[in-house]
Amino acid sequence: MKSNHSSFADAAIGRIEAAEWLDGPGFQLANAVALPQRLAGTPGKRVRNALHGTWYGHPVHPMLVTIPIGTWTLALGLDTLGALGAKHGQEYDRAADLAVQAGAAGAVAAAAAGLMDWQQTHGRSRRVGLAHALVNSTALGLQLTSIALRWRGHRREGRLASAAAWGVMFVGAYLGGHLVYRRRQGVDQADRSVEPRGFKSVLPAAELEEGRPRRVEVWDAVERAHIPVALVRQRGRIFAMGARCSHMGGPLDEGWLLKGGLVCPWHGSRYDLESGQPLDGPSTCPQPLYDVRVRNGIIEIRRQQEPGAAAVTPEDIKHAAQMEQSSAEDSPLGRKADEVLFEHHQLLRSMFRRIEDMPPDDPQRRDLMRTLAFELEIHEHIEDEIFYPAVRPVSEDIPVAYAEHQQLADLLAATLKLPTSSPEFEEYLRALHKAVDHHASSEEHSMFIEAQRLGERRLRELGHELEMMLEEQRTSRFQRAFKELKISLLAQAGKEA
Ligand code: FES
Ligand SMILES: [Fe+2]
Ligand SMILES: [Fe+2]
Repeated sequence: MKSNHSSFADAAIGRIEAAEWLDGPGFQLANAVALPQRLAGTPGKRVRNALHGTWYGHPVHPMLVTIPIGTWTLALGLDTLGALGAKHGQEYDRAADLAVQAGAAGAVAAAAAGLMDWQQTHGRSRRVGLAHALVNSTALGLQLTSIALRWRGHRREGRLASAAAWGVMFVGAYLGGHLVYRRRQGVDQADRSVEPRGFKSVLPAAELEEGRPRRVEVWDAVERAHIPVALVRQRGRIFAMGARCSHMGGPLDEGWLLKGGLVCPWHGSRYDLESGQPLDGPSTCPQPLYDVRVRNGIIEIRRQQEPGAAAVTPEDIKHAAQMEQSSAEDSPLGRKADEVLFEHHQLLRSMFRRIEDMPPDDPQRRDLMRTLAFELEIHEHIEDEIFYPAVRPVSEDIPVAYAEHQQLADLLAATLKLPTSSPEFEEYLRALHKAVDHHASSEEHSMFIEAQRLGERRLRELGHELEMMLEEQRTSRFQRAFKELKISLLAQAGKEA
């Protein structure tokens, strides 16, 4: 069910987004702000970059707004204590005055940075941005009034003005949140695909002219997307960076070269060809980079992995295969791990079908549901313990697979709480069946295939380990008792609720 609050706020913001009459004043304000910057030339550009946060790696506006939010909230608390006649009331009053003033200074700085970012927005975001600015200026105006009132000794009125400003500030913050989280202003818009992880041919070198960027594409099978890359030849050297500008997705391959950087045609962010770092804003975020080499007259590129990216490189795969050769001598051989798991998937699928086909009031339904829960838990357990850690070096699917296991466990817990004859149970059972099927199919279609890189011998060794643990989980009294206790507690909790 949709909450009234969100539909009210959405409707209000929708009206702002649709308010075309805001465009005229917006245009005038943007021009008024841009003029002195243009007149100031290079120093103006420096100030602009500083206010965007090009040097900082993130926009600075959200960092600066913490100053008024923090100090004005503090002032509200101190004012309240003062108004309630707390001891040392005069000291609270003095501290409150100081907090309001400090907040006003911070608000001016935040407004300057925000205005700079706002200039580069368009359409609906620009209208919401203008409303955000108007609301926050109102808050600032109220606080300035409050400062004047306090100065003249009208403390009561001063406190009221500050309290009103605090409330107005919250509306402004809501609009700011909308700009970032819904309208995606200030967030990284570049393609961060990890592909291609090995060198891939993209263009005959002869086709890339000096100083004329060219667009090529690489395919990312996981994202199911063509990732555009801009190739640039400068003084004979070839560079490659992601073609979607991190600022708002502008086409860098349609940009131009200036002072050793590639300039975005949309708002003029300039990126260093060597490092991908923004040299000029509004962008604050580096572009994705690619290693480049020329083989037999063909340009080949490979994605330079970013710090923290757990990507699988051809070197990793070679290394994993070598490990397999040295460790797998005379280890016991069974079926391959993917075969063992696939068979278990099939078992789970058939149990789902059996339960779904049973009449709702069949007493065996609950028993079978418990057995299914038991097998599902075992399945996740042996994968978490043995299979996923072994496959991690050669597959990028593991983090998502772990997350899906968590989701399956949540859904299973919710399903077990329901009486097997209820309509909700049917609904949850179907959802769980779908979730298990999606998860198992993506393992079968992607992870199991990538796992083949470990080599047949290692897969058979893992298969043996999986079968041993499967057996142990099914037979060990302690394990069985523990799992059953857990399952019955979940089912019990459902009856009581
Ligand atoms: S999209 Fe704004 S500078 Fe590139
Ligand atoms: Fe799994
Ligand atoms: Fe699985």
